[in-house]
Order: sequence, then structure tokens, then C-alpha cells
Amino acid sequence: MSQHWLNIPGNALVIGAGQGIGKATALAFATGGVSGIVLAGRTQATLSQTEVEIGAIAASQGREVKTLIVITDITKEADVICLHQEAKEVFRRIDYAANTAGLLGDDFKPTTSVTATEVNAQLAMNATGFLLCMREAIKMMETQEPLSVPGFHTAERPGIVSAGLLESNNNTPENGLKSVGSVPIRRFSTVDEVADVAVFMCSPRASYIHGMNYVVAGGVGFEQCWSVEA
Ligand SMILES: NC(=O)c1ccc[n+]([C@@H]2O[C@H](COP(=O)([O-])OP(=O)(O)OC[C@H]3O[C@@H](n4cnc5c(N)ncnc54)[C@H](OP(=O)(O)O)[C@@H]3O)[C@@H](O)[C@H]2O)c1
Repeated sequence: MSQHWLNIPGNALVIGAGQGIGKATALAFATGGVSGIVLAGRTQATLSQTEVEIGAIAASQGREVKTLIVITDITKEADVICLHQEAKEVFRRIDYAANTAGLLGDDFKPTTSVTATEVNAQLAMNATGFLLCMREAIKMMETQEPLSVPGFHTAERPGIVSAGLLESNNNTPENGLKSVGSVPIRRFSTVDEVADVAVFMCSPRASYIHGMNYVVAGGVGFEQCWSVEA
């Protein structure tokens, strides 16, 4: 195990690990000490790049982190089932599941222009796909003993991290400006700021936190608590 302050034991599965929040989460798990990481997504090339970067992090810590790439489309139930079966077969146990694959709509599109195809694509990813991933992860974790390390009880703590605004999701500079204007701390988040919270929640440092939803959004939602200058 690494000597990183989070010192996270066990194995993680990250869906959407090829870029964005998912990649940052996979790298943060590696930095934080896990022994193995399953990298899932639809694109071999980006997942391979994440794998290379995990190797470099592990080498800098003088240890190995085992990786497994599984090409997966979470809108296909069979893919989701195969992913979890393969993960279990290769790693024997998965202690943390991070599903970061999702589809953002265009926040600035007028409701009158939205198509059924766009809505259905979002539901297939963000509702059905997300639920299938959670279902398979829970089924897999139910078959294994909770991870137990002296000093803390269990590392299997379902929780949710809700991300705020990332610059990459604001399709034009004008929309970006409009969006960031609604964030009390007046800037976008980085992918690392989201990943760090997710990985912290999986660590022994968060041993008394269970089933929580953390909002990483630069104060969005709490504006009413203080007055914000325009
Ligand atoms: N960015 C924001 O401002 C923001 C705010 C709130 C919530 N979120 C949510 O946070 C999540 C991640 O955001 P992000 O900015 O990191 O997104 P991103 O950069 O677009 O990355 C999404 C990742 O998911 C993978 N993916 C996409 N469709 C998939 C599918 N059907 N099956 C499996 N993997 C799939 C992509 O790789 P492949 O294309 O290779 O599969 C990619 O690695 C999304 O759910 C988004 O809705 C983002």
C-alpha cells in the first residue's frame, strides 16, 4: 500500500475512466493507494492512456497498481453485466465503484427545441445506464466480505458526488461566462476537485461517513445564505 495520507486499500472500478472526471478519479485512486483499478469506457485509446498514467503514478510511489481495461457501453445491459463479471473474475473483489459516464444536455437550448431523441439518449445514460451499473456493483459487493483494515471498519460506503460546473461543458465562451456568473466562488471546478472528494469518501479517513451526497459546486445552491455581488 502507498504511504499517501488516504492510504486506500482494495480495488476500484471506474466507469468513464478515459477522460474528464472519470480519468481524474482513476488517477486519484492510484495516488491514494488502491491495489487495482478496472478502467471502463467505450474507447480503448483513452483508457490505455489512463492506464499509462496510473503506471507512472505507481512507479513514482515504488509500487504496482494492477489495471484492467474493459470496453463497456453502459447503455447496453449485457456490457454492464460483463464488465462486473470480468472485474470480479480478475480482481476477486471490487471495493469502490465510481460511475462517471454521463450525458449532459445543452443547458442553453430552449425547451421548445429539445427533441425526443436527445431526451431518450440522456435517459439511457443517466437513468437506465447509471442504475444498471449500481445494480451490478451492489450485487457484486454483496458476495464479498466487507473490506476490513485495523483502525477502521468498512470501506464499502455508497455515496454520491454531484459535480458543479466544468468549463468543458459550456459550449461557447458566452455561455461559459453566463454559467460561471451563477457560481458564488466565480470559477469553474477542475476535474481533480471532483475526483478528490469521491476518492476521499472511499478512504479510511472518511470511515464514519456513509451514504452521503456531496455537492462539489463552488457554493451553488447555497447562494441564499449570503449576498453575492453581481
Ligand atoms: N462537467 C460538468 O460540468 C458536469 C457537471 C455536473 C455533472 N456532470 C456529470 O459528470 C459526469 C462526467 O463528466 P465529464 O465532464 O467528466 O464528462 P466527459 O469528459 O464527457 O467524460 C465522460 C466519460 O464517460 C465515457 N462514456 C461516455 N458515454 C459512455 C457510455 N455510454 N458508456 C461508457 N462510458 C461512456 C466517456 O468515454 P467514451 O466516450 O470513450 O466512452 C468519457 O470517458 C457526467 O455524467 C456528467 O453528466 C458533469
